[in-house]
Amino acid sequence: MAAPAISTLVILGAGGDLTSRLLLPGLASLLASTRGSDIRLIGVDRDPMTDAAWKRRVTKAFSAVDGRRIESVIESSSYLQADVTDPAALERVLAAATGRTALYFALPPAVTVLACRTLAGVDLPAGIVLAVEKPFGTDLKSATALNRLLQRLVPEEQVFRVDHFLGKSTVINLLGLRFANRIFEPLLSAQNVAHVEINIEEDLGLEGRAGYYDKAGALIDMIQSHLLLVLALATMEPPATVASEDLRGAMAQLLRATRSWKKDGTESRRARYTAGTIGRRKLPAYTSEAGVDRTRGTETLAEMTVAIDNWRWAGVPFVLRSGKAIGEPRQEVVFTFRDVPHLPTGFSGPSRQAQLRIGIKPATMSLDLVTNGFEDPFDLECDTLDANFRPSELSAYGEVLAELLEGDPTLSVRGDIAEECWRIVAPVLAAWRADRVPLDSYPAGTRGPRSWR
Ligand code: BG6
Repeated sequence: MAAPAISTLVILGAGGDLTSRLLLPGLASLLASTRGSDIRLIGVDRDPMTDAAWKRRVTKAFSAVDGRRIESVIESSSYLQADVTDPAALERVLAAATGRTALYFALPPAVTVLACRTLAGVDLPAGIVLAVEKPFGTDLKSATALNRLLQRLVPEEQVFRVDHFLGKSTVINLLGLRFANRIFEPLLSAQNVAHVEINIEEDLGLEGRAGYYDKAGALIDMIQSHLLLVLALATMEPPATVASEDLRGAMAQLLRATRSWKKDGTESRRARYTAGTIGRRKLPAYTSEAGVDRTRGTETLAEMTVAIDNWRWAGVPFVLRSGKAIGEPRQEVVFTFRDVPHLPTGFSGPSRQAQLRIGIKPATMSLDLVTNGFEDPFDLECDTLDANFRPSELSAYGEVLAELLEGDPTLSVRGDIAEECWRIVAPVLAAWRADRVPLDSYPAGTRGPRSWR
């Protein structure tokens, strides 16, 4: 029997940047959609705030949409001042909630851990869902410890580890494209694919997030979480259903078979941006941004190669790359096909290998076909079939929140998956901490270090 939907959403860390920039706008996109339903919203934070001030904050974050449901959620929402490390304060918060409740930890990771420890001394209402933001721990050991702590509080189906990439319609579309079409799936294996790249680049710089980012860097911020999940969806075996345990089981199985290409992680590359221009925006060097500790050596562009040790993918390199302040950023999964086993003698070309490119942003797909040349028909060229995907009704956060509020953990990162992701990046993190891989640089607005091309 399906679990009842959530009636009260409690946001711990309601005064923070994550709440106003992503969570509330995501909730607004959900409330305005056909999947939205009435919900009580309670904001909780350390500082005093009146209900009226909180409602103004929610109204501002909801400003992109309107409608009866939006108004009623704002109207019924309230604010509570509470210290999340105080059991009595958390009991007060839970007493204010009605019906099935989700407790969303929009807090820095270290405070989330403290709040979870506090919850261990509190009587939790049946069915409560605990929603935890990324980064989930700071390494394998801390992620495992946090998982143990959460397991003591509620069953795994009631933990929702949020990764908004799982809510992107283009990422979910990897499943539809692969498993609902006959033409792609049989091609996607080591027999036909020479190498795969997953690039998630951005033209944004630090955006005032030094407090978090300078301790994380591109590898932890993006590859350890988002890119490895995209890899899992792009390469896993077809599940029997897309229900939570089948889907996440297939992802976990794939990630268990994944390891860094070289045991010591030294195939990886890292770099940091210097001052530069992106369009009309001038970006200072990363190390000149407020709050950055230049001695920490944090990378803003990271690349690692992984192998998948299973029948389908043995021997194929998967290059995962993500960076900030990149000019003409790409967000795509690119399968590069092997040459045909024998090209009939007399043909020449084509000049490059054919690819299947699945765009995450923009939402596109292109498939190269090798065809006869324009001037000399025996001189082969690549033509491309292009498709644009329909945009989704919901934003990525809206999609993830929809699943969370429906009480369905399908788009939540299962505990073992979070741990596998840390295991996979661990050799690279160790190599970087021991300075066995140089830290290169690139001017903001370029495609990365010249030496990488
Ligand atoms: C976040 C990272 O998880 O994802 C950010 O912390 C990054 O550094 C962001 O910019 C990218 O997400 P989106 O949806 O803007 O592509």
